[in-house]
Amino acid sequence: MSGSADTTFRLRWERFGPEVEAALSALYGDRAAEVTERVRGLVRAAFDARPDDLRELDERRLLSPDWLQDPRQVGYVAYADRFAGTLAGVGERLDHLAGLGVTYLHLMPLLRPRPGANDGGYAVMDYRAVREDLGTMDDLRALTARLRARGISLEVDLVLNHVAAEHEWARRARAGEPRYRDYFLTFEDRTGPDAYERTLPEVFPDFAPGNFTFDDQLGAWVWTTFNAWQWDVNWANPDVFCEYLDIICHLANAGVEVLRLDAIAFIWKRLGTSCQNEPEVHHLTRALRQAVRVAAPAVAFKAEAIVGPDDLLPYLGVAEHHGKVSDMAYHNSLMVQLWSCLASRDTRLTEVALGRFAPKPTTTTWGTYVRCHDDIGWAVTDADAAAAGLDGFAHRAFLSDFYAGLTPGSFARGLVFQHNPATGDRRISGSLASLAGLEAALEAGDPGSVADAVARVLLLHAVILGFGGVPLLYMGDEIGMPNDAHWADDPAHADDNRWVHRPRMDWDAVAAAEADPDSPSGRILAGLRRLVAVRRATPHLHASVESRVVPSPDPRLLLLRRDHPLGVMLQVYNVSEEEVRLPAAVLADVLGPTASELLGGHAWNLATDVVGVRPYAALWFVPGP
Ligand code: GLC
Repeated sequence: MSGSADTTFRLRWERFGPEVEAALSALYGDRAAEVTERVRGLVRAAFDARPDDLRELDERRLLSPDWLQDPRQVGYVAYADRFAGTLAGVGERLDHLAGLGVTYLHLMPLLRPRPGANDGGYAVMDYRAVREDLGTMDDLRALTARLRARGISLEVDLVLNHVAAEHEWARRARAGEPRYRDYFLTFEDRTGPDAYERTLPEVFPDFAPGNFTFDDQLGAWVWTTFNAWQWDVNWANPDVFCEYLDIICHLANAGVEVLRLDAIAFIWKRLGTSCQNEPEVHHLTRALRQAVRVAAPAVAFKAEAIVGPDDLLPYLGVAEHHGKVSDMAYHNSLMVQLWSCLASRDTRLTEVALGRFAPKPTTTTWGTYVRCHDDIGWAVTDADAAAAGLDGFAHRAFLSDFYAGLTPGSFARGLVFQHNPATGDRRISGSLASLAGLEAALEAGDPGSVADAVARVLLLHAVILGFGGVPLLYMGDEIGMPNDAHWADDPAHADDNRWVHRPRMDWDAVAAAEADPDSPSGRILAGLRRLVAVRRATPHLHASVESRVVPSPDPRLLLLRRDHPLGVMLQVYNVSEEEVRLPAAVLADVLGPTASELLGGHAWNLATDVVGVRPYAALWFVPGP
């Protein structure tokens, strides 16, 4: 190792080592100094092993620390096998991604899962190996290099709340090795589990009720928040911390640039609580994040915390953690609100819900999305509903009915996922196109309904591309792929209807959409490309700037304002199939007498009484002609 590398390491450790130690002190008390030394050794080894091309990437990222906030970022989320068969196959499909302007690819779980049912790969048996049918670690390295050459960053899931019951740690725990038993949360009898259960929610009440599973070999109950074969790990044990840090460094040195911290909210348990969002979660994230900055500054963290607004912001760093934890978090509330206002044709609840959000740290960004591989849970609080003049329970029930297609006049074709009779919750599965009405409209053969559905798909995308964050396009949505009618054919999937919106990519349909830009799929693809092109050219969309709600005089419109140093931007979205006449003064007050509408490319005269906002229109205004 050259002297300059030693200096680099020394400077980084001087900068971030104390951060690591402070976070570890909050977690491990007296043991913090010893654990910090172990961390130093781990990150030094990873630093030394870092390949040259990734060192170069580190330097690039250090020169552009806001890389994830840049409006040129466009994300895409896909299952490697369903998208292209294998990791090598993904490398053959980069033209499609480039055609969408993609700069960021989240490949769904690709590390080796347990055999059989594995929760879509979220039950990992070996974090240092790739799923056999997808390829090898070398294939992963080759793919990241290929992606980097095209300016695409790879994101991979880090499942850190639990491992598969078949993971070596669990196997050795069952074999009686005390060291590994301490990697898990085990209980001799029901006393502990019963005490915790009093305040624990149910994640999968249908197919995995309860949060604990009795294991015969262990002779004990083991904590299993998700499925019985997903064993929660014990982060109160510093050995677990060091194991995961080492895994992160290993993936980073394979070229992974973003780690999706799966189910991060759940990793610390405290009696008498829901065991989500505990303060230690943020200390843990901070210790990992600051340690990784030493070994691999190019790497970023994305928090998968599907929690309420007050609990969400801490994942991006509030108070002492400001700017020191995850770089990005899913904006679940925005996603839920998009679906809510589309069903109700009313944005008042959305105004309340988005208005609740305090500004995020200016160095962080949202992951904005319309659909993902999971179900949609109606995260609408009773308080927000009441503030919008609604009953929370009734509105959540309305949304479930609407998207399950049970409400008369509903355009949606979704499925109910995990009905919980205790809370009345009914989450919803379904693809974007099916939930937005395209499936039903095509079946009915009604061109007007098809046009509305296409417009809804583009409207939702306009919001996630315009909100400020990395828009995460979900595979198949770019051509409006409907629900997979055959989702239950695979016995390992049959009890989990989230597979209805995890179809195999239909490449023939992509080719057809390219060939016929007037077809519904062709219109979606072309419309999306247009949105992406305008986004990339609009510096106002840098994620350091907040989107703030402007109260709309008409409940069918959502108005978002972005105060960028370059000038103001005002976005107008019509969530209804009706033309809305809006007093022009509402726009003129913000924009002045004339405005450029960027998506349509026209100048608007606002020195008039009213302007017409077309059905499902998305308008991005900046001042001036
Ligand atoms: C996350 C994943 C979900 C999975 C769960 C357990 O929420 O998105 O698909 O079931 O974590 O790992």
